Amino acid sequence: MSLYTEPATTITDEALTAADHIRLADRHAAHNYAPLPVVIASGHGCWVTDVAGNRYLDCLAAYSAVNFGHGNERILAAARAQLNRVTLTSRAFHHDQFGPFSAELTALIGKDQLLPMNTGAEAVESGIKVARKWAYQVKGVPDGRANIVVAANNFHGRTTTVISFSDDPDARADFGPYTPGFRAVPFGDAEALAAAIDTDTAAVLLEPVQGEAGVIPPPPGYLARVRALCTERNVLFIADEVQSGLARTGYTLACERYGVVPDMYLLGKALGGGVVPVSAVLADADVLGVLRPGQHGSTFGGNPLACAVAREVVALLATGEYQERARQLGEYLHERLAELVGRGLTAVRCVGLWAGVDVDPAVGTGRGVCERLLAHGVLAKDTHGQTLRLAPPLVIERAELDFAVDALRTSLGEIAGR
Ligand SMILES: Cc1ncc(COP(=O)(O)O)c(C=O)c1O
Repeated sequence: MSLYTEPATTITDEALTAADHIRLADRHAAHNYAPLPVVIASGHGCWVTDVAGNRYLDCLAAYSAVNFGHGNERILAAARAQLNRVTLTSRAFHHDQFGPFSAELTALIGKDQLLPMNTGAEAVESGIKVARKWAYQVKGVPDGRANIVVAANNFHGRTTTVISFSDDPDARADFGPYTPGFRAVPFGDAEALAAAIDTDTAAVLLEPVQGEAGVIPPPPGYLARVRALCTERNVLFIADEVQSGLARTGYTLACERYGVVPDMYLLGKALGGGVVPVSAVLADADVLGVLRPGQHGSTFGGNPLACAVAREVVALLATGEYQERARQLGEYLHERLAELVGRGLTAVRCVGLWAGVDVDPAVGTGRGVCERLLAHGVLAKDTHGQTLRLAPPLVIERAELDFAVDALRTSLGEIAGR
């Protein structure tokens, strides 16, 4: 009898095989993901090891939440020190990590204030609430009429309001009724954006680089035009940098790369150092100042452990080292991936150390390539059928990028040769 059929109390973790783990998850957890058949037991830097002791190069980095590498010593030391002191107080009281965290992150990002939350989707929800309140209280939009303009093919998370303005049928179907007040325009089309804004528009909400859509960079000049339109029409420009932010694109913020300063940043993922979920909304006081006590909150948002970890993340970012690595290694990755265009790939887009790679439909699917990559010791994730995202931890070395690209070349060759 397989271990997974025995009562849970008799199961010791050491006795479980990868197949046992996968069967346990299949039987006892919702099937809202279709993970590759690998069961990770440990991670260090840009490598993870499975329960059988096989090593894999992590080219997803938990969708950029592990930018600083698995088990980053500085981040772990900050977490351990805080674990021994206090981990959760709620915001009913002050604690000694919150003020310094707020001061240090706002200084790094260049905004007056922050609003701490946990997940990326919560940061997006919070940004929407703040923008709506700003529209009613500051801009003077009539009650209940505020609208927010978003981009087609966006990905901002999974909550009910956020999927209300998604156009991905998987994300949306059968989860209605949907939250009203959003209008979508094509990403990169400034004229469509200008036409969608009216006197009741509170905000324009965009990912500066569309991540889940397949690492789609903005067309030249687009974000500057968005900035100008928002200023002219008295609309908040909200940049969702949950995935693009915190060094991934070679800059602390992707907006910096494109020379624009939005009114509000949404941060998440890497802010928690791959240890705890930490997200934040950052804006100046004339925007975040619309919130008064009791109007918004979160039991875990801004907790001592999260703040201690995020302070170390801010300290790592303040050196500029990770941004520099992402810029240089990103150029190298782009060069190496470009060799495969016409040899199994139809296109490659790199923004810093973040690549969207389109697999030739004549060769195979994104998922099929990920499965072959797994066999060659590389973890990557497909999106929208034909595309792979590559976003390794920023601690990766050139030789490891070579390992990943060589594995991709071999995988494409194997699939094409079938
Ligand atoms: C741009 C963007 N915003 C928001 C989110 C949601 O973050 P979370 O999964 O932490 O809720 C994601 C997640 O991939 C994202 O890429």
